[in-house]
Amino acid sequence: MYDIDKIRSDFPILSRQVNGKPLVYLDNGASAQKPKVVIDAVTRGYAEEYANVHRGLHYLSNLATEKYEAVRGTIARFLGAEDENEIVLNSGTTEGINTVAYGWAMPRLQAGDEIILSVMEHHANIVPWHFLRERQGVVLKWVDVDATGALDPQAVLDAITPRTRLIAVTQLSNVLGTRVDVKAICAGARAQGVPVLVDGSQGAVHAPVNVQDIGCDFYAITGHKLYGPSGSGAIYMRKERMAEMHPFLGGGDMIREVHKDVVTYADPPMKFEAGTPGIVQTIGLGVALEYLMDLGMQNVAAHEDRLRDYARSRLDGLNWLQVQGTTQDKAAIFSFTIDGAAHAHDISTILDKKGVAVRAGHHCAGPLMDHLGVTATCRASFGLYNTEAEVDTLVDALELAHELFA
Ligand code: ALA
Repeated sequence: MYDIDKIRSDFPILSRQVNGKPLVYLDNGASAQKPKVVIDAVTRGYAEEYANVHRGLHYLSNLATEKYEAVRGTIARFLGAEDENEIVLNSGTTEGINTVAYGWAMPRLQAGDEIILSVMEHHANIVPWHFLRERQGVVLKWVDVDATGALDPQAVLDAITPRTRLIAVTQLSNVLGTRVDVKAICAGARAQGVPVLVDGSQGAVHAPVNVQDIGCDFYAITGHKLYGPSGSGAIYMRKERMAEMHPFLGGGDMIREVHKDVVTYADPPMKFEAGTPGIVQTIGLGVALEYLMDLGMQNVAAHEDRLRDYARSRLDGLNWLQVQGTTQDKAAIFSFTIDGAAHAHDISTILDKKGVAVRAGHHCAGPLMDHLGVTATCRASFGLYNTEAEVDTLVDALELAHELFA
């Protein structure tokens, strides 16, 4: 049973007030709150168990190394990877995608080679590919979503040409909540020898993931959206792809030997992990993922789907509010504008006065905003601890905003 009261009590921040009102936290797409087990692990990590990893031969260094390295296995389990050595620990999705851009794509792609992107990618899955366009003349090919905000996997596959070297696509839009059938994209791409990078920043948060079942080559996650500490994350990289890659960041820990005229690198995954990592953050991420696996991601998904259906029915009743992205196959993420209202920021300011936290702006998704013909939206993004009563509070606050602005 999904015990929502117990789950809410696991998150200390949910009992605080904001602007004199109980906090209704609907900005999970930007960053999720942390359960006490994660906060405790971070505190313990610094108060009792802190030292650098992989370097010392003393008790604390060995302890920190053991705890840090164990997270690789936890992430492999969470993502369904075959081998924990396919998991590179990092600071989040942005670093993960840059690792692929610099380490795999830059040394291989040439002018005229093509990368396929969907129009609803986050800037983290756009800007690194723009670097290749600017520096190397790589061509970015964009696939639109339809009028409901859905992405047809066949449209992505139809964009493949003999020059296509990579498909980089989100599993779940951070703006519209649209789910993407990345498994179908990977199957079609694989049949044509095209690798696929999946941005799992949002996808891994809202449903169970199995990278082997998806069949992707790269799958990036970020810890702070997964109820873990900021500055933690990972990328799954299929073994064959890792073997083809140059390291991205150079520094300590990722080498075998360094001399004046020669350097050799550690074996993967260490080859892709330079410098002192986010030790305690990563340990905290491991605890967050254990927390999620204890809840069961299928249970989290079912709870959030119920919330989505309820929120959709309530928001559909507001005929002065436009939800962007009406596809049925979406997570509980709603971006909207209000008729006659000023900027999305003004709406979010009114909501904030009622204790309701949402994000307003372009959501790091410029091409999607262009496609939708808007400069900004308000976004309510739900998480595993939200309730139907909070949907009602959101709607009450929106009604107030509408009265004030319309
Ligand atoms: N990617 C985060 C968001 O969607 C920051 O808000």
